[in-house]
Amino acid sequence: MGRIAITDGMSEKAVSILLKAGHSVQQEHYSEDQILQGALLDYDAVVIRSATKLFKKEIEASSSINRGIGFIGRAGVGVDNIDIETATNHGIYVCNTPTASTRSVVELTIGHLIASSRHITSADKSLKGGLWEKKKFRGTEIGGKNLGLIGFGRIARGVANVAIAFGMEVHIFDPFISDTPEGIVVHENIEDLFSSCTHISIHCNLSEETKNLVSLNLISLMPGIGADGVECGNHIVSCARGGIVEENDALEALDSGILASLALDVFENEPLGDSPLLSRIGFHGTPHIAASTMEAQSRVGTEMANLLLEFLDSGKPGASLNGMQI
Ligand code: MLT
Repeated sequence: MGRIAITDGMSEKAVSILLKAGHSVQQEHYSEDQILQGALLDYDAVVIRSATKLFKKEIEASSSINRGIGFIGRAGVGVDNIDIETATNHGIYVCNTPTASTRSVVELTIGHLIASSRHITSADKSLKGGLWEKKKFRGTEIGGKNLGLIGFGRIARGVANVAIAFGMEVHIFDPFISDTPEGIVVHENIEDLFSSCTHISIHCNLSEETKNLVSLNLISLMPGIGADGVECGNHIVSCARGGIVEENDALEALDSGILASLALDVFENEPLGDSPLLSRIGFHGTPHIAASTMEAQSRVGTEMANLLLEFLDSGKPGASLNGMQI
């Protein structure tokens, strides 16, 4: 029987798969201090989302010679909250579910793009406040505009397909792609991407190279006038990772009118707390919910439960980020 800690929640279906297989499951969030004091030492495996951080010290405190976790499951895509190298040095498998939430993240990205161009959240607030401000909420279409994607992985490709269906021209910057997708404008440098697009959506990982990548210098290159000649202003969306958009710079861009809207699902510090962004009309925010749909969480949970079963049955998951891909 395996002992599994689920620290940031997982679908009921996944928990019941694990319980039915005879494993013990503890659903409890442990603070950083608790983890550093060895809270995970009595488990064989831990499943986290973004709230739990397993960096070097936390992993060292969760693994000793004959005790501790042998499996870290990231129920989602991003593994920037896990020190994979330290996990590997301690013989701990790290697994994620890279495809399970793609559609949900695509849908929220498109939702933010439209909501910000059409002032949906502000208009809703105004209507609920008893007002009828038709003129104030005149928006612009996304069709006929250029959408710039930073990164062109699975989610960005999904966003591109929908954006093209809406009549946008898709531009990309991704130094790591090997194919040249048809009907898409590929830029060799990020400055060209920003100077070609009134709408930008971020789809890269958070790394040393991408930390604070979206700065005031880049945002200032955006044209403000759409490819169709309409003065739509500039719009940025990120459902990728906090810290890629330099939030103070984006705030300055909003205040100076360089940016018409900034829609963020992810923030440098989460939970967001008392940010000046919250008082800006052009800012649209959601609390890191891109993958929080019933469908995505059900897929994430089932995939993670299967990886856990493989690990607990045979000592090795079928696929991992730091072991053999089978
Ligand atoms: C992910 O990386 O899968 C998403 O950001 C969702 C999450 O952190 O739960």
